[in-house]
Amino acid sequence: MSLGAPESAVDLGLGEPGWPVPDVVGRGGTRAPSLSYGPNTSDPALVRAVARYASTPTCDVAPDGVMVTAGSQAALFALFQSWVEPGSTVLVPDPGFVAYPTLARMCGATPVGYPLGADGGLDDDALVTALAEQPHTSLVVLNHPANPTGGLASAPALSRVAEACVDQGVLLVSDEVYAELWVDRRPASLRDVSPAGVVLGSMSKAFAAPGLRIGWALGAPDVLAPARLVHNAMTTAPSRLSQAAALTILEAADEVLPASRAEVRARWDAVDRIAPRLRTSGHRFLGDGHQEPMSRTAERAGFYLWLPLPDHLADSTEHDGTPSTEAFALRLRDEGGVTTIPGTAFGERGEGFLRVSLGGPVDDLEEGLRRLAPWWEA
Ligand SMILES: Cc1ncc(COP(=O)(O)O)c(C=O)c1O
Repeated sequence: MSLGAPESAVDLGLGEPGWPVPDVVGRGGTRAPSLSYGPNTSDPALVRAVARYASTPTCDVAPDGVMVTAGSQAALFALFQSWVEPGSTVLVPDPGFVAYPTLARMCGATPVGYPLGADGGLDDDALVTALAEQPHTSLVVLNHPANPTGGLASAPALSRVAEACVDQGVLLVSDEVYAELWVDRRPASLRDVSPAGVVLGSMSKAFAAPGLRIGWALGAPDVLAPARLVHNAMTTAPSRLSQAAALTILEAADEVLPASRAEVRARWDAVDRIAPRLRTSGHRFLGDGHQEPMSRTAERAGFYLWLPLPDHLADSTEHDGTPSTEAFALRLRDEGGVTTIPGTAFGERGEGFLRVSLGGPVDDLEEGLRRLAPWWEA
């Protein structure tokens, strides 16, 4: 969507934080990182720091339950390569993060999308039904807070899905890379309700350092073991400079995370101040021309606004042979001067939606919202 955008267009497409990390990295400067390869399992100090950070009063994470990777993307790759059987099915959220179906296909498996609830969050009934219908499933991915919908997962829903996966011998991967970016209250984690499966975390979102390419997977040592082999074969270990910077930032988590949450809150507040209808209006399409009012979670988490097309466009399915969602996103970009991502980029159930990233600089967001608002008021 950015290619071919008018020069004056505001880019609300890119899914990365646009605020600076509090200036903690410089403080680590006294600790000159070694530029040796280091252990394949990464610097033990970083592994211990992730374990400490990920531990909660109800869940103690040991260092051997941590796999540090080159971004959570590499954790996904390694877990898929080691656990997804060729010819099997992988259940992925639809709409969902674009990498999941690609990773499944790269293993010779078939990605099958499962629907989310009307609020964009985990619908355990739908997922458990999909699991029952797909007996050859080898892996299930959850993502909450979700990209692109911002939807959450309740503790009972997570617990039910975890149990269903254990019963069916399926690996459950809970992608929680946006978990720390909550505004109203901390969202539930798979770890609050179950020791099963793998939880993913990252320096890329709440720690505002995507360029470090540091992420991690948390799970039982025997579940992580084959994925470690894949990750080592792929990249040995993440860059030592990145590991050193990640350690410094993680040690300042008590300072960095509240600052990031304040940045995210300011952005959601800007939506309510400048373009409140973007958070309150809209329908979602159910196929066959049917639609229902969009139900919205009051809880704000992550930095994506999942925006239904304006109601007055709801019945126009085609425009110049291009599906309406993409056509409308292009009109918004070229006539309205705002780049967003058509929901269809995230799966067929993204039809009728746009993903608006609130992650970038606040000034850009405010200008983008001022440009978007009139399109929803017509
Ligand atoms: C849902 C989700 N998971 C994983 C990733 C990968 O993040 P990283 O590899 O930077 O940790 C992203 C990046 O946008 C994402 O949106």
